[in-house]
Amino acid sequence: MISTTAKINLLKKPTQDSWIEQAIANLDLILLDHSHCERKAAGAAINFMFRYPSHAPLVRKLTAIAQEELEHFELVNQWLDRRGIPLAPLNPPPYGSTLKAQVRPQEPHRLLDSLLMTALIEARSHERLGLLGEHCPDPELAKFYRSLMASEARHYGIYWVLADTYFDRDLVQQRLDELATVESEILSTLHPEPRIHS
Ligand SMILES: [Fe+2]
Ligand SMILES: [Fe+2]
Repeated sequence: MISTTAKINLLKKPTQDSWIEQAIANLDLILLDHSHCERKAAGAAINFMFRYPSHAPLVRKLTAIAQEELEHFELVNQWLDRRGIPLAPLNPPPYGSTLKAQVRPQEPHRLLDSLLMTALIEARSHERLGLLGEHCPDPELAKFYRSLMASEARHYGIYWVLADTYFDRDLVQQRLDELATVESEILSTLHPEPRIHS
């Protein structure tokens, strides 16, 4: 039933049906969490630019991503307004912090790990927005999810290309393999609170 995953080659394992059921039963909460995700995605792109201000290809590509993520943030927030959902804090699922703990603190490992970790998060977002686009019972909202998919696919591609720009291809593939295994492992147990990355 999961047709979108065939196109995603970064992820080790596709999302389980239990996540789809949880998400569809909690669409308002998923929308609120999605708003947080888009803001964090913009912040992540900007953080790279602060940390590596003279890495020109990185700065130029991530400027475009930060702008797109902020546009997504605004669009999701318009959906929150439409459904009467107030912007509110949410506890993040363990996904982000567990992945971040995999980032080695010393450069240049830190750059490689951070780029690949972000690529994986984008790839998973792309997969899950696709699943929402396929299964969401509100046709307008489903259409909105599908409309975001192309840019999320581009984003994970760009983070991968940046890793490939600064590091040896074999090293990138080997580390991606390790991090992707951890990423799928985190999601193998459904987090009880409905989230984009639960
Ligand atoms: Fe986005
Ligand atoms: Fe993105």
